[in-house]
Amino acid sequence: MKKILIINGVNLNMLGSREPDVYGKTDYATLAAELVKFGAEVGVTVDVVQSNIEGEIVNFIHSAQGNYDGIIINPGAFTHYSIALLDAIKSVEVPAIEVHISNVHAREEFRHKSVTASACVGQICGLGVNSYKLAIKYFAEV
Ligand code: DQA
Repeated sequence: MKKILIINGVNLNMLGSREPDVYGKTDYATLAAELVKFGAEVGVTVDVVQSNIEGEIVNFIHSAQGNYDGIIINPGAFTHYSIALLDAIKSVEVPAIEVHISNVHAREEFRHKSVTASACVGQICGLGVNSYKLAIKYFAEV
């Protein structure tokens, strides 16, 4: 069975109570459980981790090497400025998909730029929890 690591970055632990009009009302624990369940339905093993600390996210990315077949990463605001995460994604051979709950391109100008997406096979945004599910489905099928 393929193994997928979902990495959530800064402030994503606050889902549910954080700007629900932008990010929805699903809390983080519910999101994580839903993604593990969806993975099982499409035939992949899904592990979900989260950190607000950039270096810990770098460590999560490194830990995927040799242990996972794909990374799905929502770096949160780190998306827009973390060269460290860009380099970390490039440092492993595991393919990564960047996801966002909101449509970053329809929001403030500073969210239009992702410094991490260029190291990923693709980016999915604006589809809420389904952004993650489509990425899981992609890895289940390739
Ligand atoms: C986000 C979009 C980012 O711009 C923002 O900083 C987040 C969440 C999203 O999932 O829509 O924290 O990554």
